[in-house]
Amino acid sequence: MKRLGYYNGKFGPLEEMTVPMNDRVCWFGDGVYDAGPCRNYHIFALDEHVDRFFRSAAALKIEMPVSKEELKETLYSLVRKMDQGNLFVYYQVTRGTGIRKHAFTDGPGNLWITLNPAGISDGLEPIQLITTEDTRFFHCDIKTLNLIPTVMASQKAEEAGCMEAVFYRPGGRVTEGSHSNVHILKDGVLHTAPTDHLILPGIARAHLLRACTALGIEFREEAFTLDELYAADEVIITSSSHLCRHADRIDGRDAGGKDPVLYERLRSYLLNEFFTATA
Ligand code: PDD
Repeated sequence: MKRLGYYNGKFGPLEEMTVPMNDRVCWFGDGVYDAGPCRNYHIFALDEHVDRFFRSAAALKIEMPVSKEELKETLYSLVRKMDQGNLFVYYQVTRGTGIRKHAFTDGPGNLWITLNPAGISDGLEPIQLITTEDTRFFHCDIKTLNLIPTVMASQKAEEAGCMEAVFYRPGGRVTEGSHSNVHILKDGVLHTAPTDHLILPGIARAHLLRACTALGIEFREEAFTLDELYAADEVIITSSSHLCRHADRIDGRDAGGKDPVLYERLRSYLLNEFFTATA
């Protein structure tokens, strides 16, 4: 199969799958998700993603229809059905099915899985960014399906010919990308926003910090501002879709590009880790 869709035990070609109109995701976006890359039929950092998925569901009191082990087995059994093993593995759980009412519907959640062909970038080619005010709510640490501000910001970036929009809160604190984490290098130190309720604790971010430790690069988990972003030696974007990329333009101005050696040490460490784990 080229693209696969799964819903509560049924699966088939993604384009042919349908879901019940009363799934609470249709009324309220009432669910959480997680996702990550798969190469050569090996799902990368699966335990970390599944742990975060269960944490997101627990934070919203969504009853999981499967255990962590069952989910991992299901994901692998579906991945093995695919024509090729380089995929983006996406899963979400929604809070059951019922006539529209705001308070919870009883019963376990609905499990959705999609598998789509995908490969990660090698992180060599720089990307371009815009910045935009972060108008999201205050639970950005939970990976919910309420993604309208993200959709609007991503579209704004696309219309500006850019790959990603970087969010900032009033006062200028940079939070994260619309679907990525943002970090800067300055004078040999990596700065990254702390994992409070304003950002998603990215799995690729965690790998980046572990790379810093392994390479002896100092890092600080402290809020930084838009001015610091513009003046950074390098601007690094991480996510599970493209583990590590750097930016050379922000809001139409030149950015980063002043510490290519340090960026290259981190990029090659992370890519090497990915290729080794999925060999
Ligand atoms: N997005 N911040 C936000 C708001 C995100 O949506 C993502 C990932 C990240 C990076 O997290 P991780 O390193 O765990 O992928 C940070 C995924 C890729 C998505 O929505 O498709």
